[in-house]
Amino acid sequence: MSIVNVALGERSYEIRIEAGLLDRAGEALAPFARGGRLVVVSDEMVWAAQGERLRASGLEIVPLVVPAGEGSKSWAQLAALTERLLELGIERSDHIIAFGGGMVGDLAGFAAAILKRGCRFVQVPTTLLAQVDSSVGGKTAINAAGGKNMVGAFHQPAAVLIDPNTLDTLPDRQLRAGYAEVVKYGLIGDAGFFAWCEAEGAALLAGDPAARLHAIETSIRAKAAIVAEDERETTGRRALLNLGHTFGHAVEAEGGFSRLLHGEAVALGMALAFRFSAERGLCAPADAERVVRHLGAIGLPTRLELGTPASLVAHMKDDKKASGGRIPFILARGIGDAFVDRSVALSEVEAFLARQL
Ligand code: GLY
Repeated sequence: MSIVNVALGERSYEIRIEAGLLDRAGEALAPFARGGRLVVVSDEMVWAAQGERLRASGLEIVPLVVPAGEGSKSWAQLAALTERLLELGIERSDHIIAFGGGMVGDLAGFAAAILKRGCRFVQVPTTLLAQVDSSVGGKTAINAAGGKNMVGAFHQPAAVLIDPNTLDTLPDRQLRAGYAEVVKYGLIGDAGFFAWCEAEGAALLAGDPAARLHAIETSIRAKAAIVAEDERETTGRRALLNLGHTFGHAVEAEGGFSRLLHGEAVALGMALAFRFSAERGLCAPADAERVVRHLGAIGLPTRLELGTPASLVAHMKDDKKASGGRIPFILARGIGDAFVDRSVALSEVEAFLARQL
């Protein structure tokens, strides 16, 4: 078992990583059941595949199940969920348990943030993407017509409970998509970890328990340190976690959130960010090629085949991080050396995308 602390003063919390943790869900969730009730928010697929493990916990659990898929991060589902929680008489001393992937964590976390001006919630992520990224750090949101995660709040969970065994039933495509976010930590600031990914990524995806634990723990430690330094993404430190996301969100928006999974869009976005960095003379072309080679070997997309340069750049203009007509891009001086570049003109990005399509 590993415990990682997210040091945020009175909002500090622990992330517990333990294979088989959900087989001891009664013990793991008991501290949160002491002051009130546990209301589980999950999606149909996760609840069907994993719900029994919570039902068998012996704890009294109220389940609320939403449709699976990114489409549930919507005003309609948020309204329906908050109304159901209010009908249940949810109190601030109760805990909402977000049991599922990134969609469930974002939706349930946002409902917790706004219900009664803030209820407690616990993240129990069941996908690799949620385990290594979205369950940690308190970003919660729904999508809106203006783009992905456009309406949301920072609301830290009371704890994050990670059982890597939930990945046993995760479809391969979802696992690979989550792996893109693992690789991201190596590319941002840990060249040694990227080399580990090159050597062990295939074993991780094949279900090797030690590789899985190492990847999750390394990713979580990197994320916890960044969140502790820059909880609300104001200093530029947390912005590094958006490597691949400006390109990636534009591609996701272009495909109506349905053609590519988020992690797949991030993989493509990271490949583009490194190619763009190489074109600007910031990083060695060999580094960009190495990134593309590894992502491609894992079966993640690295070639842009969607949209037009103008339409992709138009999506970027809607980016939440746009300020004064400029968008901060996360570029790299090499593998493990990402930085925020505020000097990029969108005309330059458009010309680059035209060469990529
Ligand atoms: N997924 C990026 C962040 O949590 O800041």
